[in-house]
Amino acid sequence: MAENISDVNEVKIEALDTFLKEFGEEATHCVCAPGRVNVIGEHTDYNEGFVLPMALPMVTVIAGKPNGTNICTIISASSAGTMSVSKAEFDISEPAAIKPGEPKWANYVKGCIVNFPNALAGFKAVVISTVPVGAGLSSSAALEVATYTFLEAITGQQASDPVQKAISCQKAEHDFAGVPCGIMDQFISVMGIDGHALLLDCRDKSVIQILMENLKDHVFLITNSNSPHKLSSSAYRDRRDACFEAAKKLGKNSLREVSLEDIKTLEKQGVSKVTINRVRHVINENLRTQEAMKALQTGDYKRVGELMNESHDSLRENYEVSSPELETLVNTARSVKGVLGSRLTGAGFGGCTITLLKEDCVSQVINTIKETYTGKATFYMAKPSAGARQLDCHR
Ligand code: GLA
Repeated sequence: MAENISDVNEVKIEALDTFLKEFGEEATHCVCAPGRVNVIGEHTDYNEGFVLPMALPMVTVIAGKPNGTNICTIISASSAGTMSVSKAEFDISEPAAIKPGEPKWANYVKGCIVNFPNALAGFKAVVISTVPVGAGLSSSAALEVATYTFLEAITGQQASDPVQKAISCQKAEHDFAGVPCGIMDQFISVMGIDGHALLLDCRDKSVIQILMENLKDHVFLITNSNSPHKLSSSAYRDRRDACFEAAKKLGKNSLREVSLEDIKTLEKQGVSKVTINRVRHVINENLRTQEAMKALQTGDYKRVGELMNESHDSLRENYEVSSPELETLVNTARSVKGVLGSRLTGAGFGGCTITLLKEDCVSQVINTIKETYTGKATFYMAKPSAGARQLDCHR
């Protein structure tokens, strides 16, 4: 069976109750921001390419209250076991003096506070998340975007531009978590619309919202390998740097401006085979992602599945970000009749896969994976959900 994902309202009530228990009064503001799964378009965002994620029903909720001081007290609690229960306290009188430290989860909160463009207010708050940590479903972006949305709520200062909001949250991750991520995760967490996936052009930040009702009797299943991805490891940075270097060698701003023809020039310049493979992945992945958007719009899920398979194969061969666990999950899923496509999702090196399949084959896929996979896999149905929003404080 796929895991039961708590309804946003249940998580909200848990956060409100925890706030009351911890602080002895009622919270006045409550917000949530979702995790995401990427359907296709991997390692393209930092190359100014295309991505096609959807926001998930798993959310990070913050319930809190301004306290009229310059002190922020935040308790991270979680019945779902996604974050250890701990407390962070810091002074915001001089935001520039706020530095990353322990506990680590609070760095995402601090980073957003430092990057918030408007006047700040001290607060007490409780954070509860149902987004699994380290699974490649963007628990960190959910926390960043939830923090920013909470700051908007308590200060009454809404971001005038959602793109700027996503960029501020991305900067929090760069500066306070040391992860040089692209814009995809924060963007979908801000911009998700219920029932839609989103095609984002990471160069001009334009979006196309894709209504997912054309899927008819097909669904997306997420399988968590529970082998943690190590995004902050140098592997992500190395690949990003190789792409930047290749674009520079061709006199281009990014790989978005590079075509398959240009690979010949790189070969003549003596660029390594490894780098050329990275470039080949990015160019083809951009083409696949745009095609997948059209196929989703017309309900051609067979083609979507083929493109997902091609994406994964290229991530394994050219980008080298798969892992033995992900290979087992993808190959096992693909061996079941009714599966149209399966691929790793997110940065890779562990984390989750996403599989497009006929709805009536879900149990069979889950059972086959459970029989084959020696680790412990967990399963979630990827229901396209809404982006960050303020919630009422009613129980
Ligand atoms: C991580 C990053 C994203 C993106 C993906 C790979 O999730 O946070 O910005 O680069 O990896 O597609």
